[in-house]
Amino acid sequence: MKNLLAITDFSNKEIDELIHIAEDIEKNPAKYQEKAKHKKLATLFFEPSTRTRLSFESAMLSLGGSVLGFSDANSSSSSKGESLSDTIRVVSCYSDIIAMRHPKEGAPLVASNVASVPIINAGDGGHNHPTQTLTDLLTIKKEKGRLDNFTIGFCGDLKFGRTVHSLIQALARYKGIKLVLISPDELKLPDYVKKDVIEKSNMDYVETDSLEKAMPTLDVLYMTRVQQERFFNEDDYLRLRDSYILDMDKLSSAKKDLSILHPLPRVNEISIEVDSDERACYFKQVYNGRLIRMALILKLLNLI
Ligand code: CP
Repeated sequence: MKNLLAITDFSNKEIDELIHIAEDIEKNPAKYQEKAKHKKLATLFFEPSTRTRLSFESAMLSLGGSVLGFSDANSSSSSKGESLSDTIRVVSCYSDIIAMRHPKEGAPLVASNVASVPIINAGDGGHNHPTQTLTDLLTIKKEKGRLDNFTIGFCGDLKFGRTVHSLIQALARYKGIKLVLISPDELKLPDYVKKDVIEKSNMDYVETDSLEKAMPTLDVLYMTRVQQERFFNEDDYLRLRDSYILDMDKLSSAKKDLSILHPLPRVNEISIEVDSDERACYFKQVYNGRLIRMALILKLLNLI
């Protein structure tokens, strides 16, 4: 039984296959509308979500399956002290596949050790968010026509931004990727990503605190929100939250075919005026998220 706990659980070949299925689903939705009939997806969200939970639910409904779950840990028996392991054993009896989000890093791994159905990590603390990475890869593939040989800038909260960690893990396996890591000192990429992923795979990278200097070099700009929920100190969050605000003025030096990504939700880091620029791809990412999650459900349930 296969799980998706980290993006490295899938080879590049498997990711290519998922992208291919997602593109086919987009072209031929009717072909897939009953593929998961009588299957049940449980969405267990111990942390808030709009896109990930709803896109998973929409994906399963679009495949003819059904969904159950909770969107607030306080409405589950974990609020009475039930362990995660017990919760997963129970939900395994009611569902065919589980997508879970949890504030603790490694919680999906714990869940996978006791589950009798596939586990999908829908975000664990500041660690990983592999289904967002699949969404990002599908978006880059559609926008650029390739997943190799481009320069990508990651800007903002690289310390707590789990989508950044997962996407870098994925890109490390493609050729010709150059990383520009743009952050204040306090929000730099953690060592376990820099040393264990980037340096081990000999990726080309630079670190800077200047979005303006990096801008003209970028093919893809991946903006991130400063993750308020991961800060221990409110003053630090308030000091750092507006470190980077992308507006039309900053975009004046960008390439004409730049692709601007953001996993969303955004707070202030991209001005609304950028939304109507043709380089803005973040709402396309949202659209792609449902397609790739449909492909993922089919793959993990061996329905394709
Ligand atoms: N991108 C993402 O994970 O969004 P949600 O927190 O709304 O699920």
